Amino acid sequence: MKTKKLIVDNNVNKNVVYSQAVEKLNAGEVVAFPTETVYGLGAIATDEKAVAKIFEAKGRPSDNPLIVHVGAANDIEKYVTSVPDKARACIKAFWPGPLTLILNAKPNTFASNVTAGLSTVGLRMPDHPVALDLLKMLNKPVAAPSANRSGKPSPTTALHVEKDLEGRIPMILDGGATGIGLESTVVDFTIDPPVILRPGGVTAQMMREVIGEVIEPDTTKLDEASVPRAPGMKYAHYAPDAPVYLINPDVDEVKNAIESIHMKQQKVALLAPDDFRQSEADWFFSLGDSKKLEASAHYLYAHLRACDETTADVILVTVPERTGVGAAIFNRLEKAADGNWWYS
Ligand code: TXA
Ligand code: MG
Repeated sequence: MKTKKLIVDNNVNKNVVYSQAVEKLNAGEVVAFPTETVYGLGAIATDEKAVAKIFEAKGRPSDNPLIVHVGAANDIEKYVTSVPDKARACIKAFWPGPLTLILNAKPNTFASNVTAGLSTVGLRMPDHPVALDLLKMLNKPVAAPSANRSGKPSPTTALHVEKDLEGRIPMILDGGATGIGLESTVVDFTIDPPVILRPGGVTAQMMREVIGEVIEPDTTKLDEASVPRAPGMKYAHYAPDAPVYLINPDVDEVKNAIESIHMKQQKVALLAPDDFRQSEADWFFSLGDSKKLEASAHYLYAHLRACDETTADVILVTVPERTGVGAAIFNRLEKAADGNWWYS
């Protein structure tokens, strides 16, 4: 299969581009497109065969449900049995935006492979002009996971999508780099108080200001039995080829780690804030100012992917403070490192 990449910027007639994507989707094909978080790989959420192509292209386990994207907030009334007041308040406050709400789905509304057989569905309205225009023109719900091969970091540019899925999907809409760089916050609103299943751009604090109590489980302490509540969170994720180790953002600790790696004649890539630029690491990828976590989030996946372009034997990543977006960054890093910390 040849993958067609269509650039969507102010120099092209966007409607011409979108109609090609709409045509593909209506023909039961998959299309990759940018959202404000990461690139998604979409198919019409009622078309079981089209949705199956998403799982196939990504190599995604079939028990991991997909998020359904809508072009208008009102659409969700058609798809769920009820919208609790707290869910409604969050939709008002954060949509369009990086918040996915888990609600009870009306039976037989979506293809069964979208929800992986669950009675609930994850819904979100993305805040990106390309995604929104496409959804509005299509006027149908679109199931879309991140457009990466399963296990790899999510794509934040069209190039990342190409790298993973070239020849496996027919079309990519290239709308430039995504803004946030981490996937949406996934929150279960079928229980009260609501529970954050995956931290993201909309933080627990932001939600508490709108609806009061929100449960934010400590993902490091979740045992095997409770992890699969967001089924996707139990799989290895976001991982470059070389092993990733977490380390405290402490100059001496990092220095000692690099020394001991070099003693073994191995090469090391370091992802850390600007303050670590002077380290002896063989490759350094800056996570920016340690106080500006939004910027770290924006570059994180691109940097993890860039490690695959190096010949590093080991990847060290310093952990951020776990407040605000730091909770989401920490969560993704833990997955990328498979929970491993560096001990000198
Ligand atoms: O920002 C995003 O959310 C991106 C863009 C493309 O919108 N999408 C994304 O999708 O990250 P994906 O498939 O990579 O992650 C979806 C997460 C998984 O952890 C999945 O298990 C969880 O949401 N999820 C989806 N439906 C669910 C449900 N009904 N109950 C619990 N968790 C669900
Ligand atoms: Mg994903």
